[in-house]
Amino acid sequence: METVPHTHDARAAVGPNPSGHPSAKESLLVVASNRGPVSFERDEHGKLVPRRGIGGLVTALSGVLFRDATWVASAITDGDREIAKRGRAASAGAGQRVRFVQIDHETYDGYYNQISNQILWFAHHYLFDVARTPRFGDDTVQAWERFVEVNQAFADVLAREADRHPVYLIQDYHLALVPAMLRERVPDARIIHFSHTPIAGPSYMRILPARMREAVIRGMCGADLLGFQSPIWAENFALNVRSTPGLRIDLRTLRARDDARTIPIRSFPVAVPGHVIRETAARPDVVEAAQEIEDWRGEPALLLRVDRLEPSKNIIRGFLAFELFLKQHPEWVGRVKFLSLLSPSREEMQDYQRYGEEALAEAERINKAFGTAKWKPIDVRVQEDFHFAVAAYTRYDVLLVNPVYDGMNLVCMEGPLVNERQGVLALSVNAGAYTRVGRHALGLNPFDIQETADAIRQGLEMPAEERARRARGLTRSILAHSPETWLLSQLDELDLVRPPAAGSDHETAQESDDAFGSFNDEVGI
Ligand code: G6P
Repeated sequence: METVPHTHDARAAVGPNPSGHPSAKESLLVVASNRGPVSFERDEHGKLVPRRGIGGLVTALSGVLFRDATWVASAITDGDREIAKRGRAASAGAGQRVRFVQIDHETYDGYYNQISNQILWFAHHYLFDVARTPRFGDDTVQAWERFVEVNQAFADVLAREADRHPVYLIQDYHLALVPAMLRERVPDARIIHFSHTPIAGPSYMRILPARMREAVIRGMCGADLLGFQSPIWAENFALNVRSTPGLRIDLRTLRARDDARTIPIRSFPVAVPGHVIRETAARPDVVEAAQEIEDWRGEPALLLRVDRLEPSKNIIRGFLAFELFLKQHPEWVGRVKFLSLLSPSREEMQDYQRYGEEALAEAERINKAFGTAKWKPIDVRVQEDFHFAVAAYTRYDVLLVNPVYDGMNLVCMEGPLVNERQGVLALSVNAGAYTRVGRHALGLNPFDIQETADAIRQGLEMPAEERARRARGLTRSILAHSPETWLLSQLDELDLVRPPAAGSDHETAQESDDAFGSFNDEVGI
């Protein structure tokens, strides 16, 4: 795990503030997320050793934390649980500590599998098959109680850090209730909640039982500041506030309001650490893997996708689009290979198992229909291998990133940074990243298989000059933001909302009520 030197400089430059209260940048950071930066497992000598956590959230946060950060996470492995039992924080490298919240298996299942993954993740990514699912019964009521319980356990552990006057950075839907619960325990706590996922609009969110939906929106509004990956998700959240009793919203300035406080709703797009990806691409083993990919590819062009094996990534429509492209442009048969690198995810969930099986079956069917003895159109590799993925990034001609909805999407920012073939990015307009880099990509409606097939063709056939121009534009846009600026801009904004000298009184709480509409106003869809 890394710390980023110039972040420390930025922190030092702020200096002590005259009031004696630390500014957000000077404060200890306490991060809370379901999955921690590391997980502990026993090695062959029986020693507990840390392994880096997986997923976009950990990737985004790991590189940017200042020294002296404490990370509070669920105990997921037996090793984590052993550490949690000892009641002490463990080192997570570079001056960071991780404190695990002890949760028994059954409670964790309700909180993580049933509510977080099957309900909240599906709601925010518009993944329900609404003619059939979801079906909320008494099992949902029970699972919800477990979700509440775990959020309370997090709030308890976080409250114990309060005497150090930290800034709390609460991450994602798993912990949506924590800001309000923590506020009850520590009324003057400084809290940011950040959502790495999309947020569904209010009519879709109304699929959820009212009690659950309102608790999520109110729980998040316990924060001082709400962060989202894209303005679209921030606006959707604001519309959800409008339909929540007891809360009001100013849709013009995107500020929510409860009885006492005003809560800005802002977008802070996460960025990728350019130097880390580029250093990875230069590693000898990665260069070797890139050569292997070259040898395997041969003459044909390379279409690449790199994703978690996850329904929101829209893998099946990606294969169908490739099939349609081959059907409509037989001149490309034998001249392009589609490498699909899929890392296993949430394997205990039936929906994921089914989706994975269906995706692999589609690839096989297309391979049978179009493949020859010498050419396999789609090569699917289900593996967790970041270095191999980076090697593949260097070699693609077209990178297909077509999620149905995605909070941000890091693949479409990592790839162009190390690609050596002026590869073209075909990008879903429903990825948060589209707002940032879309103008240099070929935008596509992820539900439109014809449009996706057209984007594949356009990418493969694009004249060299346009490829080069778009590739330059992509690199420039991606490097314009860094993970450090992502975090620092949240902390700067927090200082505006909760000025260091102001203690627990919110300046903004004095504002006039005129701008705020309540849930009685016309409700958006
Ligand atoms: C991805 C998403 C995050 C989410 C995480 C959870 O990284 O970008 O928003 O929190 O998945 O994944 P997990 O495997 O822990 O369920």
